[in-house]
Amino acid sequence: MPRYRNSLNVDKDNKDPSMTRRTFLSLLGVGALVGAGHLVGASLVGFLYPNALKTPPSVFSIGRPKDVFASEGRVFNPKQKCFIIVRSGKVRVQTAVCTHLGCTVNAVETGFSCPCHGSTYDLEGLNTGGPAPSPLVYFQVFRGASGELMVDKSRAINDPGAAWYSETA
Ligand code: FES
Repeated sequence: MPRYRNSLNVDKDNKDPSMTRRTFLSLLGVGALVGAGHLVGASLVGFLYPNALKTPPSVFSIGRPKDVFASEGRVFNPKQKCFIIVRSGKVRVQTAVCTHLGCTVNAVETGFSCPCHGSTYDLEGLNTGGPAPSPLVYFQVFRGASGELMVDKSRAINDPGAAWYSETA
């Protein structure tokens, strides 16, 4: 029997180190407690961090009116997955989410095209081919209290003509 033992009951001089059953079970218990603590901690953090923060808000700004109306054309907003279309002093915002299974459509010369299963839409967003069951919708545009143009994705507009927002109308 060695005179001094370290925490693992391993004697440096002993060629055949051994660990007592009590020490082994103690280490196993400590390991289990540490593992369970990490599991509970990770679960708690996941519970306290709401999923709602991971999705962009349904109302968002597209900028000051003079800046928005200054840029004619069709601009893709990747964060909100929508197209901001400006034409002749009017603006409308159209979803870029395919109505088939939710892929993001690409802007093409003739309108929009979905890379997933080949659905096509015309420039107004009407479905013209492929498995897409319905047109691309528009979202309501309005001037917010801050003076910026805001988009409300919870308010869908199906009529392309009614989706235009103008400061003069
Ligand atoms: S998701 Fe666009 S065609 Fe299927």
